[in-house]
Amino acid sequence: MTKKAGVIGHPVGHSKSPLIHRYWLEKYGIAGNYETYDIAPQDLQSGVKQLIDQGLSGFNVTIPHKVAIMKLCDGLSPEAQQIGAVNTVVIDKAGRLEGRNTDGFGFIRNITETLPHFDFAAAPALVIGAGGAARAIISALSAKGAPEIILCNRTREKAESLSRDFGCSLEDWDKLQSAVPLAGLIVNTTSLGMTGQPDLDLDLSNAPRSCVVSDIVYHPLETPLLQRAKARNLRTVSGIGMLLHQARPAFEAWFGVFPDVTDELHELVLS
Ligand code: ATR
Repeated sequence: MTKKAGVIGHPVGHSKSPLIHRYWLEKYGIAGNYETYDIAPQDLQSGVKQLIDQGLSGFNVTIPHKVAIMKLCDGLSPEAQQIGAVNTVVIDKAGRLEGRNTDGFGFIRNITETLPHFDFAAAPALVIGAGGAARAIISALSAKGAPEIILCNRTREKAESLSRDFGCSLEDWDKLQSAVPLAGLIVNTTSLGMTGQPDLDLDLSNAPRSCVVSDIVYHPLETPLLQRAKARNLRTVSGIGMLLHQARPAFEAWFGVFPDVTDELHELVLS
């Protein structure tokens, strides 16, 4: 029997998920398909019902439905509950929806596959930005035992809200630079550095030599921040891996195989 999954969003045409999941379906010889479903916010409930009626095993959730979908789920994984957003839904045989969030998994696996010995508990992490991606990353870092998470966001109220949920230390946006010498890991979760956006103005000359610098931006693959880190011989982790790794648990839940992230897949998604 052909298993079906997909991604819901509005718009959804930009999503890389079909490329990733179709690559794995072919690689593992699985009879399945993965489609995009453009569902407007006001049609979310009826749109999701149609997917259940069509017998989907589940779907990814992208902008703007990541929070709204929670109300339609019959259950939530601990991660989805803690993050307050769902990026993956698994539909069981009875048509019940379980909401999960695999972004934190994707973030951590991206780092550990690049740097297998990286110790998240060794030093504070500096997280820049306080949007949805930051929530998932902070939740995952705290589960990995980060001794302190220093959070810095342009809009302080958003950082305060995350700090209440996860117990981060707050740094003012105009004092971001002062947190750099303390950090064992620096993560940019903002869109700064993306093609067409201004650069994240952060000087890495006073970063500890053991510091790892990571960016969730993957267009360009090597952001100016990562270039500056490399120029200082700091270890770097680029953003594309998070996108690829977050897709793995979803694929396993729907199609029964835990897939690998290969160089070929990297190239496919970047092409
Ligand atoms: P996502 O869900 O991908 O994290 P988001 O929720 O829109 O996206 O969050 C975007 C993040 O990038 C926010 O932290 C945002 O800062 P604000 O909370 O102040 O809006 C940050 N960001 C975007 N553009 C920025 C800019 N020009 N300068 C500083 N921060 C910026």
